Amino acid sequence: MNDWYKKMAFYQIWIRSFKDGNEDGIGDLYGVYDKLEYIKSLGVDGIWFSPLYPSPNADYGYDIADYKDIHKDYGDLGQFKKVLAKAHDLGLKVIMDLVVNHTSDEHPWFLESKKSKDNPYSDYYIWRDAKKGKLPNNWESLFEGKAWEYCHERDQYYLHIFAKKQPDLNMDNPKVREEVKSIMRFWLDMGVDGFREDVINFISKKEGLPNGLPFIPMANGMPYYKDGPHIHDYLAEFREVASEYDCFLLGEGPMTTTKSALKYMTGHHKNLDMMFNFDHMMADCFMTEYIHRPFDLRRLKKAFSKWQYELNGKAWNTLYLENHDHPRIISRYGDEKHFHRESGTMLAASYIFQQGTPFIYQGQEIGMTNIHLRDIEQYVDVSSKTNFYRFHTDEPLSKRMARIYHSSRDSSRTPMQWNGEKYAGFSGAKPWFYVNSNYKKINVETEEKDPYSILNFYRKCLKLRKDNDVFLWGSYKEYFKGHPFLYVYERAYKDKRMLVVCSFADRPLALRIPREYEKDKSRCRLRLILDNYPREDRLKGLLKPYEVRIYEIL
Ligand code: NOJ
Repeated sequence: MNDWYKKMAFYQIWIRSFKDGNEDGIGDLYGVYDKLEYIKSLGVDGIWFSPLYPSPNADYGYDIADYKDIHKDYGDLGQFKKVLAKAHDLGLKVIMDLVVNHTSDEHPWFLESKKSKDNPYSDYYIWRDAKKGKLPNNWESLFEGKAWEYCHERDQYYLHIFAKKQPDLNMDNPKVREEVKSIMRFWLDMGVDGFREDVINFISKKEGLPNGLPFIPMANGMPYYKDGPHIHDYLAEFREVASEYDCFLLGEGPMTTTKSALKYMTGHHKNLDMMFNFDHMMADCFMTEYIHRPFDLRRLKKAFSKWQYELNGKAWNTLYLENHDHPRIISRYGDEKHFHRESGTMLAASYIFQQGTPFIYQGQEIGMTNIHLRDIEQYVDVSSKTNFYRFHTDEPLSKRMARIYHSSRDSSRTPMQWNGEKYAGFSGAKPWFYVNSNYKKINVETEEKDPYSILNFYRKCLKLRKDNDVFLWGSYKEYFKGHPFLYVYERAYKDKRMLVVCSFADRPLALRIPREYEKDKSRCRLRLILDNYPREDRLKGLLKPYEVRIYEIL
């Protein structure tokens, strides 16, 4: 089986906000085409496209109405093929989002399915009768109240783990699985290189759909739809299709643990090559951003190290700090106000040098930050508007807005900041969503010119990782576990060792070197190979705020 994905780094595009190429205020494949050289210049080797398919956008593309076409806002299949060909010419792989836990309620399958109980699509979704006049069970949707929606035509309820407009597919139906395989073949035959499989650990539901007890708001029922009884059989079927091609499969696994993730990534079928986990995204919240708590570096380190140690030699890690589902990382784990550049660069090195394949989300490479809009009505993301807001109705408005500032997925979906001109150079027309007001300062053009910018630091990190086998294949060891402000890890491979020292403090901090290096004096010489401060600003024996140093141990 191939393992080219291990050496790679990926760039994620959430197209609506990436670059508008036809001046209608919406990002599209024309814009992507023009920016492929920029993407390549970062030092990445592949692109993951969040959904590009036709969709009513109840969940911005994750509610698909046609799996085999391109949304007209973004172009058409012809333009997609051009992007794919140019990406390949530049040496970039392309992976698509495969969202098959649910479709849009405007997908033709659902439109048919809801008509009656006996049509060819009637069993494509999870339909149930009311139970003694009540809902079929007590499950909650992760986005919008109860997980069941009533349909007059069938006099039945359908299940939706996400929004009402995202009915769950019935993966137990072999015809549905054949549809999934046909979708995979469609894109693989066109030349795409793999899939990111959306909430893939949710696709098999427990027989009987038992009530969730004790009751957990929003996630009620999750133990019965996460890692369900047939999940590995279904994924093995999908793997079989993938194995006809030189293709790789990356699964998104909300709430997954190392133990369950290993079941997906190992074994005879190795149903997934890699998996996104969420543990390290909860160093300042519970339930991925819904409930805020103060950032604690020890929590972050624990999550990072757990995955590094427990996957070592068995499976391959997926490294990320941002995507379209999480607010911007500098606004969370860094200091956007006082140490924007310093914390943005340090955060980059904190994860890119771990073992695994790094992902960089559009705008992360220039240090984009969270947006603060005045009114809840200005937010467009379904999870900001519904469950999340609903959950805190007893709080004063100001407090609820503060939560939104901290947690809304809209913060990662503002238009990409290309330059300091009108609309941040994203489009000549008024963009579909608000541009962050800091675009004059934070943008690609400005950062291109500054050798110490976040953008150029990402480039340096990605190059360093690629040029040194130790960062690709080396073992991982964490030092100073209990330290509240320092994150220190070593990578070792053959006779080479590297040490990554990250300060998460907003004031100078004593530089600490693992004691065992000092004991072994002959191996204690450190050669600095990367730092996020210019030489003249560095202090001896001290780390400046949010400083990161990468040493080779000689
Ligand atoms: C995970 C996706 O990343 C997210 O954006 C989406 O809302 C849910 N899955 C539902 O598809």
